[in-house]
Amino acid sequence: MAGVIPSMQSENHELKDNTVIIVFGASGDLAKKKTFPALFGLYRDGFLPRDVKIVGYARTKMDEAEFHKRATSYIKNADNNEEISKKIDEFKKLSTYVSGGYEDDASFQNLEKHIAQIESGYEGEERHRLFYLALPPSVFIPVAAHCKKNCYSKKGINRIIVEKPFGKDLESCRELLSALKEHWTEDETFRIDHYLGKEMVKNLLVLRFANVAMGAAWDKNSVSNVQITFKEPFGTEGRGGYFDEFGMIRDVLQNHLLQVLSILTMERPVSFSAEDIRDEKVKVLRAIPPIERSDTLLGQYVAANGKPGYLDDDTVPHNSVCPTFAATTLWIHNPRWEGVPFILKAGKALNEAKVEVRMQFKDVTQGIFKDISRNELVLRIQPSEAVYLKLNTKTPGLYTRALPTEMDLTYKRRFTETKIPEAYEALILDALKGDHSNFVRDDELDVAWKIFTPILHWIDGKSGQRPKPVPYPYGSRGPKELDAFAAKYGYKRSSEGYSWPVTNMAAL
Ligand code: BG6
Repeated sequence: MAGVIPSMQSENHELKDNTVIIVFGASGDLAKKKTFPALFGLYRDGFLPRDVKIVGYARTKMDEAEFHKRATSYIKNADNNEEISKKIDEFKKLSTYVSGGYEDDASFQNLEKHIAQIESGYEGEERHRLFYLALPPSVFIPVAAHCKKNCYSKKGINRIIVEKPFGKDLESCRELLSALKEHWTEDETFRIDHYLGKEMVKNLLVLRFANVAMGAAWDKNSVSNVQITFKEPFGTEGRGGYFDEFGMIRDVLQNHLLQVLSILTMERPVSFSAEDIRDEKVKVLRAIPPIERSDTLLGQYVAANGKPGYLDDDTVPHNSVCPTFAATTLWIHNPRWEGVPFILKAGKALNEAKVEVRMQFKDVTQGIFKDISRNELVLRIQPSEAVYLKLNTKTPGLYTRALPTEMDLTYKRRFTETKIPEAYEALILDALKGDHSNFVRDDELDVAWKIFTPILHWIDGKSGQRPKPVPYPYGSRGPKELDAFAAKYGYKRSSEGYSWPVTNMAAL
């Protein structure tokens, strides 16, 4: 078939019949908002293994009806579509609930009994289990250990999915990884960074390596600077307690944005196999030295536009200096990228919801042109996936003037019939098939923490006084210092008066 990537086809990744999926933390937010809706999405579209069963597990005591209500509360069916309602009922029928502790054998033996009972209805010999830990880090290791000890299938494949945070710095991450490794092999372990399941992030490999035109400009000779931006229009409402312990860098930069950076900058892998891809990601990350304090800008939102400031949140310590905005510039010391600044920036309570990569090219040689806009390649990760290239065109008509325009691949317009899967759907399906390509390998995590740990320790006050973030108003573009920060690295806000999309997106 034209366009099929051969090495992707040859991998032996397939769904296994007789699989039970066990979701720990089943009464929590993550499971409710992400895990169960994703499992449902896969079920609805026929992507789960035949005869799959789902077991929710948590400490909360509740009956099955209450569990079903919670587990399906975030499934979208606004117009009560009959077909979807029917699927939701079927989904409930294949899901059961067990309550129990996270740290005692008896609870896990009880869970084992429940799973064995379900499996007794399966035909054939094989019994496969996928353990999904939607849990806080405090119980992560005991649950992993107990699953291995009490609930490990001896007649099939066992896999475990774990969620961030994977530690708080290099040392704690190493401790966590080695504690997990005592029970689960790397092959059995799937560390989720849900950004790797996003459509546009997955598109990066194809966009870069299946297009000669793109590849030709993808280096220090053409690129002036790159920004990877994450913006959320809401604060930490309700999550202040968790957030204050971690801060913006640990929450988004060190994982989601660094993952995007590594795929954006890595060399072409030998094949599309998980290890070849991840080898290249690790290689480029190893060429990045720890971030300098002088390459950092930290901010914290304050009350504005009728919205509360970060410190007004009751769950946040009143004198917290935790950054809710962070911009850091990374440098890659390899022949392709030497000297190109990569600005990773992320903030809560900003003016819009947007995640994008903006690659700004160098100025065209002056002479026949003066004050002409730079080319920019923008990959809009969300919302509304798009790739657009800002390029100068002669103004149509009887005079010659260069005008900034764009080549625009907006997914909603180009792929009108295609439903873009949720990141969690894509990743759970990969884990069920045993494909590690879009999961984080242990050495990747190690090197990611090496890059960020020194500034995190500085922010935590481990090397003296804690730096004070600069304030920015809720609902603004971020700290007022941001423009000067980006300009320091050569970013030029060009094309006065030009704003993409040029057409009305709301109409799409
Ligand atoms: C999570 C962070 O990992 O990613 C959250 O902990 C953040 O703070 C979220 O809101 C963003 O995910 P998405 O898919 O909405 O971009």
